[in-house]
Amino acid sequence: MDRSCHHASIDDLLGAIADDINAAVAQREVATKLAEKILCRVGAFSEEQLAHLDQLVKIGAALSAEKDIGHLFEMIVGEAQRYCNADGGTLYIYNDDGNALNFVIARNDTLGIRMGGTGDRITWPPVPLMDAAGKENHRNVSAYCALVGEAVNIADVYSAEGFDFHGTKEFDARTGYRSQSMLLVPLRDHEDEVVGVLQLLNAKDHLSDAVVPFPVADVERVTSLASQAAIALTKMRLLRELESLLMAFLQVIAHAIDEKSPYTSGHILRVAEITEKLVETINGSVEGRFASVHFDDEEADEIRMAAWMHDIGKITTPEHVIDKSTKLETIYDRIELIRCRVEILKRDAEIRRLRAALVEAGGKVPPEVPEHSVLDDHLAFLETVNVGGEFLSDASAERVKDLAGMKLTVGSREIPLLNDEEVVNLMIRRGTLNREELHLIRNHVEVTLSMLGRLPFPKKLARVPLYAGMHHEALNGRGYPKGLMGDKIPLAARMLAVADIFEALTAADRPYKLGKKMSEAMWILEKMVEEGHLDGDLCNLFVQSGLPVNYARKFLSPEQQNDFVWQGRHYVVVGPSAEEPQA
Ligand SMILES: [Fe+2]
Ligand SMILES: [Fe+2]
Repeated sequence: MDRSCHHASIDDLLGAIADDINAAVAQREVATKLAEKILCRVGAFSEEQLAHLDQLVKIGAALSAEKDIGHLFEMIVGEAQRYCNADGGTLYIYNDDGNALNFVIARNDTLGIRMGGTGDRITWPPVPLMDAAGKENHRNVSAYCALVGEAVNIADVYSAEGFDFHGTKEFDARTGYRSQSMLLVPLRDHEDEVVGVLQLLNAKDHLSDAVVPFPVADVERVTSLASQAAIALTKMRLLRELESLLMAFLQVIAHAIDEKSPYTSGHILRVAEITEKLVETINGSVEGRFASVHFDDEEADEIRMAAWMHDIGKITTPEHVIDKSTKLETIYDRIELIRCRVEILKRDAEIRRLRAALVEAGGKVPPEVPEHSVLDDHLAFLETVNVGGEFLSDASAERVKDLAGMKLTVGSREIPLLNDEEVVNLMIRRGTLNREELHLIRNHVEVTLSMLGRLPFPKKLARVPLYAGMHHEALNGRGYPKGLMGDKIPLAARMLAVADIFEALTAADRPYKLGKKMSEAMWILEKMVEEGHLDGDLCNLFVQSGLPVNYARKFLSPEQQNDFVWQGRHYVVVGPSAEEPQA
């Protein structure tokens, strides 16, 4: 080994160690200086300030977590009062027109006043921001604070100049209170817009409890608190506005679907109304299976929205299928074509007879055409079958087939009395819809599911597609589209099913039936419970709550309104005691 090389390596190593030590010392010095700086900064805050900061952070977190606007308003005033040890607090919020301040909360601990929020309702008139001449109302201190956007700190309102405090003095005279120190701060939201005013009254000394002016430091602190409150309030308003925009948008679509068909017009609207009443009825239920069920506001909103959305898939169902009122109807009723064909047959028969008469010696009255009465009878039969009011018997089906074989001549062509498509439709055994049309109608649920499935509903409305997509499921598994059974169908979907079927049963002007009388509709509903289609407990609650009786009185024609029997009990629809079921 080369010794000189060895020495050089040790020297290098020692040098490197020395460099590292120096660097570490230098870093330590930097760190120490930094720590001193931080300590110095922290020391600049008094303990009281740090406590206030801590409190402010906690209040901010609590405000942004609040979901109820009334509670939020109360919290803003309550926290501000506590923060400044103030005896009273009032919160004003801009009205919708932006030309006045509404009182939303008024608190006075000494007088025990708790108005607004969860307390008594406030009936005081709003504070106008403009006077009669259209000038800004700077005489009123809260209006001034909102208009100028600056805090106002008054040591004693009785000696304050520039503002009109006669209302405050009158209040004092009435109650024996003495309003003294007052602090007003504007509520500024994230866009620096003033949305309201927070007013605190009579700051109290922590030790003596005597009323003192609000300390200057409180102005900044309360301003910070007010801006936290304004942001929480704006956030809540924006969320509400978005929710109501979504609801309004979905209702517009529902109205459009209702409008699409004159026959089912108003169906969705009425189903939504019945469902909403069912939610209220279940929430008010004190005994039986539903006593333990309570839908909170968010769940109620979810069910309400599902009711509005349940038939949204009908937007793609062709109108002529929704409205198909006879078996031969497409865009128009093809019975007209058959009438024409029969007329041709009749004329042909007439021509044959006249020719025969001409061959014989003239002058005699021609005999009646024998084919006419037969053809008239065939046509009358086809017209009856076309209506689809009754189940088509085997004999009638055979006769339709036989008639299809009749031929007539149009120009040089020989055509059948009924073409294949007409035969398929006339052979429909029940109702007016053929297999493909039935599929198209039923497909509306699939379309509802796929449309709603594409909307990014917020978490609290996440079950809207599920409920809406199940409104044609039946507890016995014979529903569609999935054929779900029993427990697989949630209560909300069962409620929609009851509302949907009850509305459809009682609706007037359906294409293939007239509006049923209440007694008939309720009889069918009872049968559907017996067959295990609908939830029996739910239907019992529905009927016992008086909902169908009130519904009949509101929506059904006088001809449809009659008394009905449910589970052996007689319910009076026409008469003075509609609310009370009679035994
Ligand atoms: Fe439906
Ligand atoms: Fe429906």
